[in-house]
Amino acid sequence: MNGVDGEFADAVIAGFRGTPKSVSSRFLYDTRGSDLFEQITELEDYYPTKAEISLLDRYSGEIAELAGAGVRLVEYGSGSSRKTDRLIEALPSIASYVPIDISDSALSQAAARLIARFPDLAVYPLHGDFNQRIDLSAVPDGKTTLGFFPGSTIGNLTRAAARDFLENARPLLGRKSAFLVGVDLKKDLNVLLRAYNDREGVTAAFNMNLLVRINRELDGAFDLEKFVHEAVWNEDEGRIEMHIRSLQVQSVQVLNQRFDFAEGETIHTENSYKYSLEEFQALSRAAGWEPLRSWTDENGLFSLHYLGPAS
Ligand code: TRP
Repeated sequence: MNGVDGEFADAVIAGFRGTPKSVSSRFLYDTRGSDLFEQITELEDYYPTKAEISLLDRYSGEIAELAGAGVRLVEYGSGSSRKTDRLIEALPSIASYVPIDISDSALSQAAARLIARFPDLAVYPLHGDFNQRIDLSAVPDGKTTLGFFPGSTIGNLTRAAARDFLENARPLLGRKSAFLVGVDLKKDLNVLLRAYNDREGVTAAFNMNLLVRINRELDGAFDLEKFVHEAVWNEDEGRIEMHIRSLQVQSVQVLNQRFDFAEGETIHTENSYKYSLEEFQALSRAAGWEPLRSWTDENGLFSLHYLGPAS
């Protein structure tokens, strides 16, 4: 297909033919997208990363006690792996670390940084979509396999998909497994909206980068001046939605096909579901895990859940 990523092309064409138009959020994470997301995590308005890191700082000892010695640590959507240092330091004689990410550049940078910082650590980077079946057979077993899914990335799946994901992770991680999941909490609407529409415009640039990527990789003709980033709260679904809104009636060519936009029509690019503690515990149970411990910060911003096998 002449250097065109067939998977991306198929997803965009199919997504633009649908009503409403949509594109899966995993295509936001090309090299520039991964860099921009990294910047989002450092924004004052984006509270989840800071809140989660403070929880990891505070509770990594308890987490390490629950997990025990000789853990094989498997991180889903590891990105820069910046949060993982805390766990690696806390886990007693950790056996190995397996970062999984769709961005090759983020993955290799993170692996290089970790190997430099922890020279004795066995790192086995896996390039791929964590939502596909991952294969750990090439990675030596640990005493326990601890899945780590931070950043409320699980909130980027629908509730049904999140349940399926957790259920499928059970056999994949093995008989002796546990799962540490970071989940964003329901909270004041203004705090939520600011996190997804920050005052510095980085989230807008991150979302709009999808159009930049389509223009570059799929011979697209999007005029970025004629679209805007938008984040809205969907109360019925309990989720923040990210959209790209067309400011006018227009037609845009992508891969020699024409797509028509009405004024105000949007491309839906991302969901970020928010859960109360109890909602996420119920979801975990429905997926065959037992929530053994849950932690939140004093401001009620974010939660960490340690799941063990259901008996
Ligand atoms: N997992 C992150 C979240 O839901 C991903 C994210 C943060 C994101 N900001 C975003 C995704 C903006 C798309 C657009 O909070």
